[in-house]
Amino acid sequence: MSVTGIMRTVLRYVPDALVPGTRPDDERVRHGHVGKPVSRLDGALKVRGQAKFAAEVAIEGLLHAAVVHSTIARGRIASLETKAAELAPGVALVMTHRNAPRLKAPEAFGEGDGVAGSNLPVMQDDRIHWNGEAVAVVLAETQEQADHAAGLVSVTYEEEGAVTNFAVAQADAHHPDSVLGEPAVLAIGDAEKALAAASHRVDATYTTPPLNHNAIELHAATVEWADGKLTVHDATQMISSTAGSLAKVFGLKPGAVRVLSPFVGGGFGGKGLWSHQILAAAASKLAGRPVRMMLSRQSVYRLVGGRTPTVQRVALGANRDGGLDALIHAGTVAMTTHNNCPEQFTFPARHLYAARSMRLEQKVADLDMLANTWMRAPGESVGTFALESAIDELAHEMGIDPIELRRRWEPERDPTSHSPHSSRHLVKAYADGAARFGWDRRDSVPGRQRDGEWLLGMGVATGTYPYYRFPGVKARVRLDADGQVTVSTAGHEMGMGTATVQAQHAADRLGVALENVAFEYGDSDLPAGAMAGGSSQTAGTVAAVTAAADALLAQVLKLAGNDSPLGGLRTSEVVARDGGLGHARDLARHESYGSILRRAKRDFVEAEETGSMPLEQMKYSMHSTSAMFAEVGVNAVTGEVRVRRFLGSFDCGRILNPKTAASQFRGGIIMGLGLALSEATLFDPRSGRVMNPSLAEYHVPVHLDVPEIDVMWTDIPDPQAPLGARGIGEIGITGTAAAIANAVFNATGRRVRDLPITLDKLL
Ligand code: MOS
Repeated sequence: MSVTGIMRTVLRYVPDALVPGTRPDDERVRHGHVGKPVSRLDGALKVRGQAKFAAEVAIEGLLHAAVVHSTIARGRIASLETKAAELAPGVALVMTHRNAPRLKAPEAFGEGDGVAGSNLPVMQDDRIHWNGEAVAVVLAETQEQADHAAGLVSVTYEEEGAVTNFAVAQADAHHPDSVLGEPAVLAIGDAEKALAAASHRVDATYTTPPLNHNAIELHAATVEWADGKLTVHDATQMISSTAGSLAKVFGLKPGAVRVLSPFVGGGFGGKGLWSHQILAAAASKLAGRPVRMMLSRQSVYRLVGGRTPTVQRVALGANRDGGLDALIHAGTVAMTTHNNCPEQFTFPARHLYAARSMRLEQKVADLDMLANTWMRAPGESVGTFALESAIDELAHEMGIDPIELRRRWEPERDPTSHSPHSSRHLVKAYADGAARFGWDRRDSVPGRQRDGEWLLGMGVATGTYPYYRFPGVKARVRLDADGQVTVSTAGHEMGMGTATVQAQHAADRLGVALENVAFEYGDSDLPAGAMAGGSSQTAGTVAAVTAAADALLAQVLKLAGNDSPLGGLRTSEVVARDGGLGHARDLARHESYGSILRRAKRDFVEAEETGSMPLEQMKYSMHSTSAMFAEVGVNAVTGEVRVRRFLGSFDCGRILNPKTAASQFRGGIIMGLGLALSEATLFDPRSGRVMNPSLAEYHVPVHLDVPEIDVMWTDIPDPQAPLGARGIGEIGITGTAAAIANAVFNATGRRVRDLPITLDKLL
């Protein structure tokens, strides 16, 4: 397929493609799509294998790429022997720093509008910055030939002293300039003094390991150059900014790079701009042929960053009536000097509890390692593990039910910003969840419940994730004379149901049937869309589509003119309904879009707008919250932990699609289960080498690890959020590890403060 012949992905609702039993009834199809359990518009394409992912795009003359990784953490390449590889069967090219095109260093997150994981130049010199950095790329006619030849490249190094031991590096930990724009230290009153004076206290250290992204779809890019322009079929959760960043790296005008990413097989923060897309494009330029670089699982571990390790102190001091006198959350994360991603583990403590004094402090320890990055609920996932474990410890010490203790600490306003909450119903989420889970059956004395050789326990914890909406999201809405609506924005479908929910929204807003809405996305040539990050894509896209749809409707009303049954009506009196415009109350006054456009002799009308400024998040404290309930069994003989039941009770505003939302919540909880019990990147502190770069040795939860996961929600619309909906993508992982750890304590009386809770820690 040539560059000009690329088909853009457009998804539309096809009633017949629905899973039997999930078809919304006819009334729902005609009106009020938002809030209905519409099945994913992309579902049928995926199960039929018709959804083309980045590594599946067929281009004639394609070369396949394999990467050679450095085996030292810091130093320089002393010798690089590529002859044998170049002579190997099928090899077209070996690219190293000696022949790579000259490129600008990418901008990392937080620098300009950069979105790269690291700001290091890619293959521009002989320097090595982490163990696993790419030192050569082999292009060959087949993947097997490339992989074989990559093994024939021999490299020697002049090694330099590297800092690869987090425990040692902590001695030189320092405050980062800021933590996502917030100060690294936040103090209210004298928390240490209040802690010393408290009648009940907990002061403990919690640790969490490095974790790696393991999306089912490996990171991949299929790239092609034509007429000085670069096309990248990518797996990314930030299409528009990846295109912009790549253009800068290659010294091209904005718009000279087109990124297409219609389907993404999992992102979770890891599908951003890393060195592999740059290497693929550089090698393709050098070879003069299109290139596919699909990273092996091992290469993903070596080139794509993951979650950083943390050491966190949480100290809580309460008085006799249970009031929270002191809250201290302080600690250190690993980072590098070439990225800017200090995992914000203190953020939950800023917003959750009415503490009379507070000290929140973040430090970073610089390591010579692959840059760490966002991973589903960065900060909140590991931060809630420490904070919510400590609260359970204090509740136990005080002999108070942990839900009751949290209820007493529920703040009237945001405890640190002092802004009013836009909408907060965490107490209700707890009450609803406790009733459904059967919390009253919990024995507050640990170690007393048994089922054969299994010790049983229940635990609870709060989950939280901020509401984010980023400015500058654009959308285009087009209405054709046949009544078809096309919504276009460079958004992302990573499996969360983007197209589905946005089509539901557009159908309601324009008063048309769901099958009359097409959603066009996944292409940087479209109006710049929201990134799929910070659980913000839905809100950002809804706001942009709202602006574009309103502008479109104003145009249509103008076109209707005085000959229409709508003649003389003001915009405020007109609503979109029944496939056209009508008077809000006088149902007889209505004209279909088709009729209006035909009379005006127009084939179509379209409008492109930018979403409103997200002022709501400056005026209000906006957070999704949840009450997480776990029941575990701990084997008294082997120490094995099994989660038997899990319930997430969420307060995330209005739920736009209960089917896709339930999947988002469950997916998050499953990642939380992995965080709690099994996942850990084993980083050799001597060499900085990841020792378990495979799914055989890095243990993500598998089916047998995952119990029945129940989810429920308050469904109370947030008056400040577009459509009343706050984010739901990341909150599921937050609170989960603490709920499980607290259940393990309830089962055994053993407090594990070091994740993951593997069986050796319970024996
Ligand atoms: Mo999420 S870690 O913002 O993809």
